[in-house]
Amino acid sequence: MPALSTRTETFTDSVIRRMTRVSDEYGAINLSQGFPDFDPPKAITDRLAEVAKTGPHQYALTWGAKNFRDALARKQEHFSGMKVDPEKEIVVTCGSTEAMMAAMMSVCNPGDKVVVFSPFYENYGADAILSGAEPIYVPLKPPTFTFDVDELEAAMKQPGTRALILCNPSNPCGKVFTREEMQIIADLAIRYDLFVITDEVYEHILYKPHTHVYMSTLPGMKERTIICNSLSKTYSITGWRLGYVIACPEVIERVKKVHDFLTVGAAAPLMEAAVVGLNFDDTYYQWLQEKYTHMRNLFLDGLKSAGLSFVEPQGAYYVLVDISEFGYTDDEQFCIDLAKEVGVGAVPGSSFFREDVNHLIRLHFAKQDETLLAALDRLSDIRRLKK
Ligand SMILES: Cc1ncc(COP(=O)(O)O)c(C=O)c1O
Repeated sequence: MPALSTRTETFTDSVIRRMTRVSDEYGAINLSQGFPDFDPPKAITDRLAEVAKTGPHQYALTWGAKNFRDALARKQEHFSGMKVDPEKEIVVTCGSTEAMMAAMMSVCNPGDKVVVFSPFYENYGADAILSGAEPIYVPLKPPTFTFDVDELEAAMKQPGTRALILCNPSNPCGKVFTREEMQIIADLAIRYDLFVITDEVYEHILYKPHTHVYMSTLPGMKERTIICNSLSKTYSITGWRLGYVIACPEVIERVKKVHDFLTVGAAAPLMEAAVVGLNFDDTYYQWLQEKYTHMRNLFLDGLKSAGLSFVEPQGAYYVLVDISEFGYTDDEQFCIDLAKEVGVGAVPGSSFFREDVNHLIRLHFAKQDETLLAALDRLSDIRRLKK
């Protein structure tokens, strides 16, 4: 057989999706892969049923249906205050996953470097490699997940660094970057002439008093911020694969071309149905925040009762739980045993860290009360894993 590409030979399968398979194998409650087990808003699914009859069913415009981009531009302006030209500053993609890949391919040359905070969402390393760039990592230090400004500057000023990836709110650690932290990043990006590629998929999943600061609205950042976002988490439609890039016209011109060759376009009927969601008023986003606050409180209270220690997430829907007391040196083995013996699926923290961190596991709580209560009931027995 001919040789396969060297570029992809270091790829492992996704640890998150591997843990979903482990959960399934042992009949565990799967709190590893982060997707809700409740329905999307009915208005969206009702509209989908109509669209099934009326269409569209053929290709939409490559960079996204006009009514979808118009609605997105309005929503972005409403929440961030920034004006977005739906013709020149948006590309609709197949999830934020494609948005990130298209953004990286649009800005990176082979051999460039991309700064990534660690812990990080596992796709970033692969995205960097696929776009020919080398990821360089700057630690967010547990338990507070703050960064050292000198370490950040040292990474950002390395020759060949083109961009920094900012996941805010952060998966897996639940950090919401403060305005002061964002300003530090922005100042450095301007000083060293870098792009900031933001992953804002958890923009609306925040816990009071934390608020979302839009990097692109900081002075001097509009031209150098590439927003990657999606509808997956905001409207509980992870399977619809609707995402987008928002950036200045020069960047979007390039992203449009990359996107055209990567996927041609996002699903036309799904865009049509999802416009209903993009047009929801503020009450929807307040409801979403309350729903997630309820799930977070329910789950974290249960973890506390089970005597587990963790860092309280400020945003997103994950919690990193400290497993030091169990005496494992291999957190993946701990997760396998957790699925097998206790019946709960989790992700080993080491898969998110560049540094040698293996005392954390990630659980997610985007689940109905019954699911969370059943998982907590099982977790009350977690000490049987103690060595
Ligand atoms: C930080 C982050 N970015 C991107 C994604 C993927 O988003 P999408 O479904 O829009 O591709 C996820 C999914 O879990 C995520 O946690």
